[in-house]
Amino acid sequence: MRPIAALLVGATLVGVACRHAAPPPPAPAASVPAGPSLYTRLGGVDAIRAVVGDFLGRVAADQRVNAFFRGVDTGELAAKLTDQICQAAGGPCRYAGRPMRQVHAGMGISDADFDALVSDLAAALGHFNVGPQEKGDLLGVLGGLRGQIVTKR
Ligand code: HEM
Repeated sequence: MRPIAALLVGATLVGVACRHAAPPPPAPAASVPAGPSLYTRLGGVDAIRAVVGDFLGRVAADQRVNAFFRGVDTGELAAKLTDQICQAAGGPCRYAGRPMRQVHAGMGISDADFDALVSDLAAALGHFNVGPQEKGDLLGVLGGLRGQIVTKR
């Protein structure tokens, strides 16, 4: 092989070797979750506010848990819950209340109390005909807070 040809073959092989050593290409766009956020699918902040209002009405009538809420300013609570759900669903609101662990510490909330509240929220979502996918997504997000809220084992 003439020197120039040997050089070309060598360069090609180096090129091949480098291509093999190159980092993998970025993940294709298809791996990015597509479609509207849960916030949008729920219908935005007005829809969330309506669900929260209905939910708190159910809680007030729910003998299993309403004793916890005696003397609580429900207007204030509704505003904070709306912000929290809006933010958790990917909306533009910012929850400025206290951390969940701190708020509920010392209340002695059990798993049964937590489940009762979740069932009231599920009923409120049902009342507004929120679809099963959105219902499942939201209850899934809030269900993740159980460990910070339940203290009575
Ligand atoms: C996923 C479940 C829950 C969420 C997302 C949640 C969220 C909140 C939020 C955002 C506040 C207002 C915080 C603040 O004032 O800074 C709050 C307060 C409160 N929560 Fe919960 N909560 C949950 C479960 C429960 C349960 C199971 C109970 C009792 C059965 C409960 C009882 C209360 C009470 C009594 C207050 C009022 C505290 C006060 O004003 O001093 N919560 N909660």
